[in-house]
Order: sequence, then C-alpha cells, then structure tokens
Amino acid sequence: MTYRHLLVARSADGHVVTVTIDRPERRNALNTALGEDLLACFERLARDADARVVVLTGAGDKAFCAGADLKERDGMTDEAWRAQHVVFEQAALRILRCPIPVIAAVEGAALGGGCELALLADFIVAGATAVFGLPETTLGIFPGIGGTQLLPRMVGAPLAKELIFTGRRLAADAAREAGLVNHVVAAGQARATATEIAATIAGNGPIAVRQAKKAIAYGTETDLETAMVLAIEAYNATVVTEDRLEGVRAFNEKRPPRFTGR
Ligand code: COA
Repeated sequence: MTYRHLLVARSADGHVVTVTIDRPERRNALNTALGEDLLACFERLARDADARVVVLTGAGDKAFCAGADLKERDGMTDEAWRAQHVVFEQAALRILRCPIPVIAAVEGAALGGGCELALLADFIVAGATAVFGLPETTLGIFPGIGGTQLLPRMVGAPLAKELIFTGRRLAADAAREAGLVNHVVAAGQARATATEIAATIAGNGPIAVRQAKKAIAYGTETDLETAMVLAIEAYNATVVTEDRLEGVRAFNEKRPPRFTGR
C-alpha cells in the first residue's frame, strides 16, 4: 500500500512500524490527502496481526507537523471545511484507538493539529528543540481533533486552558515538566529513542501489551469499580495464551522469551 504523504517502514521482524508524515516542504502540514492517508493507514494497522508498536513521526527536523494546511484551507467554503474535518476526526479516532501502542517522535514544531496528533499517541519522545502549542484560537478556530480533551487530561485543566486560550508554545523541557512529554533527548535523536523504546515493547507479550493499553485507555475514563472489572477481563485474556506459558517457561529456563502473539 502506498500513500501520498506517508512513508511506512517496518523493522526486520515486522513488529515495529514507523509511520512518517512526509511533506517537509510544508512542514508536514495536515491537508485532506494526508488526513485520508492517516485514516487508511491506521485502519490497516488495527487489522495488522504482525504489528506490535507504531512510531509516528514527521520527515525532517523542522516540524513533526505544523497543523492544518492553512494554504489549502485559504478561502475554503464552510461545507468543504466541514467535510475535510470529518476526515481528520475519523483519522484521529483511529490513532487514539489504535490497538497497539503508538509513540510520537517529535522533532521541531508540533503545532495545532500537529500537536494534537502527538497527543493522540500513547506517549511522546521529543528532540530538545521541539516545540508544542495549540495556536488555533489565535486563528479564530478551535483545536478540533481532541486537544481540548487530551491536553487537560495530560497536564491538568489550568495549564491546558492557559495554553489553549493564549496559544502560547511550550519548549521541549517545559513540555516534559508539564507531563506532556515522557523523554527529551538531543535534537535529532527522538526517532532513534522512540524506536529503541518501541523495540523493547515489541519484545514483550503482544497480547499482554494490547490488553494493558486497552485497560489503561478505557479504565482511566471510567469509575474505579468498572475499571477494576475491565482490568480483570484484560488479565484473563492473557491467562489463556501460549505466550503466558512461554513467559514463565523462559524465566525458569533463564533465557529471553520468544512471544508469538498466541
Ligand atoms: N499550513 C500550510 N503551510 C505551512 C504551514 C501550515 N500549517 N506551516 C508552514 N507552512 C509552509 C510555510 O508557509 C512555508 O511555505 P512557503 O515556503 O511557500 O512560504 C513552508 O511551509 C516553510 O515554513 P516556514 O515558516 O518558513 O518554516 P520554519 O521552519 O521557519 O517554521 C513553523 C516552521 C511550523 C514553526 C512555522 O511554519 C509555523 O509556525 N507554521 C504555522 C503553524 C500553525 O500556526 N499551525 C496551526 C494551524 S491550526
């Protein structure tokens, strides 16, 4: 499958999938074609039994993604704008609900929809010169793919409100202090670090990781009683697997486990 604005590459074992937004001349800005590509790509990933982790990144070092393509949007009718946004909304939901972990590797600017794309991932690794921001209100618009919901959950409502109301940008270190970013690494190293973390995850039991993602994603959004029930369901889904037997066997045989996802 080829895309217009995405490059998709896999590790030799096929388990780590790197999805690169490839419009560096437009700072990887999100146009309709890219939205359609992201939607198609994450739809496929949801059905890909071999894939265990996704690294989502942007080509070049200037921007992870500069948000909506403001050149394409210039003069767009209300109808065309809404139709485009439906594509973005659907793509966002596919990324948020991707059954395997998604790590955003951010170099340069992650602004507007680009910042939201990073927030949709499970966690973010940033190069030291990365910058995050939701400047939509400065353009008279609204962060439309989850920023108003995800940012407060990550950094708390007061800081999220300030950032969204003012459009102020956060540098990488400040983003880490705020809890937006897990790791800040030397500029240019975000992809390598994210890929190392992805390889560690890909070596773990794939069913266990999927179940953990599901339990955390849905459990943190519900009351604790229901969340505990969800977690036991997730636990039980791992008990019946060959990987559970292999994990314990490998421990006792003092060797690394070889998980197959069965
Ligand atoms: N939509 C369309 N084109 C964009 C874009 C966007 N969101 N962001 C950047 N570009 C284009 C620029 O217009 C420029 O094109 P040109 O060469 O035809 O003039 C090209 O990408 C390079 O941009 P430039 O600003 O020169 O690059 P930079 O590396 O100095 O700065 C950014 C990068 C991302 C910090 C800066 O481009 C920026 O602030 N972009 C707008 C981000 C934004 O407000 N997004 C919110 C959308 S809701």
